[in-house]
Amino acid sequence: MMTFTNLLIAKSRSTAVVTVNRPKVLNALDARTLQELEKAFVLLGNDSEVDVIILTGAGDKAFVAGADITFMKDLDALAAREFALFAQRVLSRIENTQQPVIAAVNGYALGGGCELAMACDIRIASETAKFGQPEVGLGIIPGFAGTQRLPRLVGKGLAKEIIFTGEFIDAREAWRIGLVNRVVPPEQLMESARQMADKIAARSRVAVRLAKQALNEGLEMDSDRAYAHEANLFGLCFTSADQKEGMAAFLEKRAPRFGKIT
Ligand code: COA
Repeated sequence: MMTFTNLLIAKSRSTAVVTVNRPKVLNALDARTLQELEKAFVLLGNDSEVDVIILTGAGDKAFVAGADITFMKDLDALAAREFALFAQRVLSRIENTQQPVIAAVNGYALGGGCELAMACDIRIASETAKFGQPEVGLGIIPGFAGTQRLPRLVGKGLAKEIIFTGEFIDAREAWRIGLVNRVVPPEQLMESARQMADKIAARSRVAVRLAKQALNEGLEMDSDRAYAHEANLFGLCFTSADQKEGMAAFLEKRAPRFGKIT
């Protein structure tokens, strides 16, 4: 595994943990950190030992407190557009990683940090986490696809309220509106994410990945095409040894022994 300046990567069992590691600036995302995230997710996406990726932030204060304001402040319009397009590409790369990606949100997830968490498949938040899109307070708008992913998660009305007011919302409220899957005490955050990762890793790898593909790709299609796409991927499952093993194990009343072939 290559080394990174602003990320920590640790693998244990079949889970990889990626930690954004710039705690002095609350893990703010500058261009280098985004480049490293892109590289890390390409590498881990192709890593046959990895079933699930957990993304978190260093320290106990922030997941990611946004795009790096120091880095952005003197950008001209074209450079700012390039930065947004680049960050959007990185977040799409994360969203479309073959493996499920769990955000373990350990503190502030603001602006680009909230957008980064939303690019993950599942969000688990510490009770101390705070979410928000404070960009309009800086004279800008969300530019890492927040105007698109937030309404898809919480609905258009609540997304507009969050983006227009720029106010932070706490973990409970984020859970209530569907922005996070669950809220846990801070000391249980990583364990809780690992437990979920272990549950996923115990299932058929190929089935989990095809399910992710059906969800992500299907939600971008009209429903008739999405259903046909789902049926095609359902059919594809029947080419796998896992389907034979999973169904045989059920009928023989034993636990399945899934392979790790992708
Ligand atoms: N970009 C660059 N630096 C950031 C940052 C960001 N998005 N968020 C925090 N930092 C830096 C601060 O400038 C400060 O640096 P300093 O120690 O050199 O002064 C350090 O991180 C600690 O942050 P600080 O503001 O002192 O902590 P706090 O506990 O008082 O407040 C926040 C925490 C998260 C409420 C506050 O840092 C904040 O509002 N950050 C910006 C959030 C934002 O608008 N993000 C969207 C960007 S598009």
